[in-house]
Amino acid sequence: TASHGHGPFIAAIDQGTTSSRCIVFDKDGRIVSVDQKEHEQIFPKPGWVEHDAAEIWTNVQEVVAGAIDKAGITAADVKAIGITNQRETTLLWDKNTGEPVHNALVWQDTRTDALCKELGRNVGQDRFRRETGLPLASYFAGPKVRWLLDNVEGLRERAERGEILFGTMDSWVIWNLTGGVDGGVHVTDVTNASRTLLMNLHEMAWDEKILASMEIPAAVLPEIRSSAEVYGHAKGGVLDGIPVASALGDQQAALFGQTCFSEGEAKSTYGTGTFMLMNTGDKPVNSYNGLLTTVGYQIGEQKPVYALEGSIAVTGSLVQWMRDQMGMIKTAAEIETLASSVEDNGGAYFVPAFSGLFAPYWRSDARGVIAGLTRYVTKAHIARAVLEATAWQTREITDAMTKDSGVELTALKVDGGMTSNNLLMQTLSDFLDAPVVRPMVAETTCLGAAYAAGLAVGFWPDTDALRANWRRAAEWTPRMDADKRDSEYKNWLKAVERTMGWIE
Ligand code: G3P
Repeated sequence: TASHGHGPFIAAIDQGTTSSRCIVFDKDGRIVSVDQKEHEQIFPKPGWVEHDAAEIWTNVQEVVAGAIDKAGITAADVKAIGITNQRETTLLWDKNTGEPVHNALVWQDTRTDALCKELGRNVGQDRFRRETGLPLASYFAGPKVRWLLDNVEGLRERAERGEILFGTMDSWVIWNLTGGVDGGVHVTDVTNASRTLLMNLHEMAWDEKILASMEIPAAVLPEIRSSAEVYGHAKGGVLDGIPVASALGDQQAALFGQTCFSEGEAKSTYGTGTFMLMNTGDKPVNSYNGLLTTVGYQIGEQKPVYALEGSIAVTGSLVQWMRDQMGMIKTAAEIETLASSVEDNGGAYFVPAFSGLFAPYWRSDARGVIAGLTRYVTKAHIARAVLEATAWQTREITDAMTKDSGVELTALKVDGGMTSNNLLMQTLSDFLDAPVVRPMVAETTCLGAAYAAGLAVGFWPDTDALRANWRRAAEWTPRMDADKRDSEYKNWLKAVERTMGWIE
């Protein structure tokens, strides 16, 4: 697939939930080379999910070297490095040794349930919503930091003495890339910071009151910077000396990569989880329907652009679970073949509330259910229910978006790994009763990080130049009977009800 051409190029690193990858892009936003490596998912107890941050950093170095090698280029051909990452996943490390003090707590991890409930006692889940745009939920980074400080022996004292650094994976990768213990820069960008429950969305600064209520010492925090500027230069490795020039949470990077630069434009990315973001322009819009208010991106010194987000915790990871934990399929792609072997779901509905329910419910007390089982149901029906779960969850999010924004959905721009599943894309269009469109480059996460880095160093002049690169590759249109859709949706909602209140 290497289309080489002549440089210069931009290299983007995507440190994701299940893998790290590096993609080299040319000036037309075309993929020149890709390298990718999965890392271990650590499940110490029900509801707990961890990553080994040292393993992740090793993998990042390997995929960067791999992608540069496959492209047949050298550092001299690369104008900038862009970073994008799984959001909220929380790490604390020792500033003097570079050693993580504990595995990273992954965004899906629910161990801070009780802590979040406690923080919201008497005031409710929306205690910090005005400042942060977020409900109190185990999903976000702040409570995870607090958990580590409370549970790793001696850590709080070390943190207060200024020996410990906190970061989401953007900070961890940038600190290591720029030298680590040897002068690494400790920064994060506005999009990642907006997922901590610690940043004031209106001021783009850490909120002292919230830090005090969560008992988090300011000494651990990275500096908050824009999403597109030069933070520092790579030190060592194959890209030695190249500017590190962007950072965006993966979902915001996908919004950028889909060139949703105007108010009202939206995308939905189908990865481990699914996240729909709508650009709301230069004002943060409050949600009354269970969505998050978040930062979309900020280019250098320009005003920040905000977004409304509908987050779904489990979509692609349900297919992985079917493969790895249940052994019902051998490869992720097989889910489509199996699901296509039957006409419908046979009456079964699968609500994968493995990390509680995210948008629009925000119920940490929910756990997964399969409802509607009879002796008739086969594993093919379950496979179908697995795919339908992704589509129905998206429908719930688009309903909330419509209510919050007053904008009817005319078409949904999609991207991410699961969009190669045709049956899923058709089902999605059917359930939404709207067209679903996918661009040529479905790797919009890396593309967005590359775009932001390229803008920061003048590789691309402005966002209009980027828009010109967006090309439609595929489109699905609704074929489902309206009555059928309505009755199926009712059944789905009934199944959702059954997940709630499982954890006391
Ligand atoms: O908020 C979590 C999200 O950033 C994870 O994305 O693509 O790694 O599942 P992904």
